[in-house]
Amino acid sequence: MADSPVSHHRAGEIPEEPDSKASNEQRAQMEQAYQQMQRKMRISKMDEQIKHKIMVLSGKGGVGKSTVATGLALSLARQGKTVGLMDIDITGPNVPKMLGLEESDLNVEEGQIHPAEGPSGVKVISMAFLLEDPDKPVIWRGPIKLGAIQQFIGDVAWGELDALIVDFPPGTSDEPLTVSQSLPGIDGVVIVTTPQEVALLDSRKSINFAKTISVPVLGVVENMSGYTLRGTSSPGSTISVMGPGGVPLECDSDEEGNWEITLDVFKSGGGEEASKELGVPFLGALPFDPGIVRGGDDGVHRIIAEPDGETARAFEEIVNNVLGQLDKGSQRTLRIL
Ligand SMILES: Nc1ncnc2c1ncn2[C@@H]1O[C@H](COP(=O)(O)OP(=O)(O)OP(=O)(O)O)[C@@H](O)[C@H]1O
Ligand SMILES: [Mg+2]
Repeated sequence: MADSPVSHHRAGEIPEEPDSKASNEQRAQMEQAYQQMQRKMRISKMDEQIKHKIMVLSGKGGVGKSTVATGLALSLARQGKTVGLMDIDITGPNVPKMLGLEESDLNVEEGQIHPAEGPSGVKVISMAFLLEDPDKPVIWRGPIKLGAIQQFIGDVAWGELDALIVDFPPGTSDEPLTVSQSLPGIDGVVIVTTPQEVALLDSRKSINFAKTISVPVLGVVENMSGYTLRGTSSPGSTISVMGPGGVPLECDSDEEGNWEITLDVFKSGGGEEASKELGVPFLGALPFDPGIVRGGDDGVHRIIAEPDGETARAFEEIVNNVLGQLDKGSQRTLRIL
């Protein structure tokens, strides 16, 4: 009887203790079922409300996913798009720090979480907002993690967005799998790599992973591509710099005396080569820029600190290539229809 969803009492009878406990349990179950139904309804609406959904992945840690995810979001927002950024890195969420949102609190109204507002109006949601002590490691078992991700997707009041960018922990773990199963209409995956062999090998895994979850690969971004030294000397003079591995690099200054030499910190062009080999688009390269590290630490992203700088321009090019791929994707869908 305790399992029955209906209680059986005669009118006026006061229910006995075990039954009233059962009805409390039932009420809680009904409440939960109702919340889940509402979440499902909200998730199904997300496909129309959010035009484009992009996952940022990498096979290897520390190659710059969060830098690229925040950069894509800011660069799109600076083009006038409404953008959301979801930080799914539950064990090491660092998007809020990169955007100077560490002190932000999330508002919950009518059962929905309202994202924090970052620079250029980017709507940000991150597990970091929910952690009481950012220095404490988070150890969550699979089902709890899964529930948290589903809540992040279904219980957030994103509103209408042109694009939602999702940042992940490294590798092909539970998180991207859960998101791919919960978020409808994902447009594709952006894979971030550094140009050295090990990172490139791991990118292959990310590409295969995207295939397994049936999400298109929008392309590869090569990060920390080269570090450019610039200076002035007398016009037409030869400058020599000791490059990585003790290889000397030379150039001549121009008629105004300006010169520049690019050091390939890892190796250059590996991302482009790999994308050709793997048959996926190359979206562009980001230079090695010490300002990105400073920006990550002091919460002012490079795109905000220097909107016309080399890094901001590189991001613009990458964003334009991503938009080009999204266009191609929608044309493909139209053809299928
Ligand atoms: N182009 C770049 N030039 C210089 N430093 C960079 C560049 N891109 C990223 N970094 C720095 O490298 C470090 C790692 O970057 P980031 O946190 O974006 O990587 P990630 O792939 O998200 O790492 P994780 O796998 O831990 O999530 C950060 O300190 C960041 O500031
Ligand atoms: Mg990261």
